[in-house]
Amino acid sequence: MKPWETLDTAQVPDVGEVTLARRGDEYVLRVRGQTLMSSRRHGSEESLAEAGCADLAGKSGARVLVGGLGFGYTVRAVLDRVGPNARVTVAELLPAVIAWNRGPLAPLAGAPLEDPRVTVVEGDVGALMARHTATFDAILLDVDNGPTALTHPDNQGLYGLAGLARAFHALRPRGTLGIWSAGPAPGFERRMGQAGFTVQVLHPAAHGTKGTRHTLFMGRRGP
Ligand SMILES: C[S@@+](CC[C@H](N)C(=O)[O-])C[C@H]1O[C@@H](n2cnc3c(N)ncnc32)[C@H](O)[C@@H]1O
Repeated sequence: MKPWETLDTAQVPDVGEVTLARRGDEYVLRVRGQTLMSSRRHGSEESLAEAGCADLAGKSGARVLVGGLGFGYTVRAVLDRVGPNARVTVAELLPAVIAWNRGPLAPLAGAPLEDPRVTVVEGDVGALMARHTATFDAILLDVDNGPTALTHPDNQGLYGLAGLARAFHALRPRGTLGIWSAGPAPGFERRMGQAGFTVQVLHPAAHGTKGTRHTLFMGRRGP
């Protein structure tokens, strides 16, 4: 088997070392040596966009917030589902990830950052949500391994009641919050309900139609 080749590393304050590595045509993003994402499997990242944007194809001026960027698969899947005058905001914590998406990672998801509908905001998606009221038709969060498996300890706040309330207020009425998780998160569905969401839990395949399944918590603002 070919060895992993480190393409770039970045030191991020409060996060540590972030690495982009490649083996053949597979890319991985590692945070402090722990794999956060691989280009090998991205079916559920696309399912997040599919479920979150199901009602937006014909909606003029749809607004979608995606946090974080990763390899851009969710953003690409959003762009493929919304109209020509939609606006898609992407919040990404790590400047290196944004730079890599404008460089070696761009072809993986068809260079979504070059789409004129996209605005990239460098920073915490939670802070961005806090600055918005009734703005987004969909907020799609895939920032970590899920509500109970964190790579960035600060992300805990996104999944608590206060974080969910921030998402609720940043959504337009009947807007959708979608949260990606590597696996089930006991109690999280109930917490979303406490924050006011009508919740549906989906289990899309990580890749193709068989094998590992991930979890999507989809919450609608309103009945
Ligand atoms: C698993 S990847 C996302 C994968 C993405 N859905 C895709 O399709 O490629 C998680 C991303 O979220 C970013 N991230 C982590 N915490 C964040 C936060 N609080 N705000 C914004 N981005 C964050 C990470 O740097 C990483 O780029």
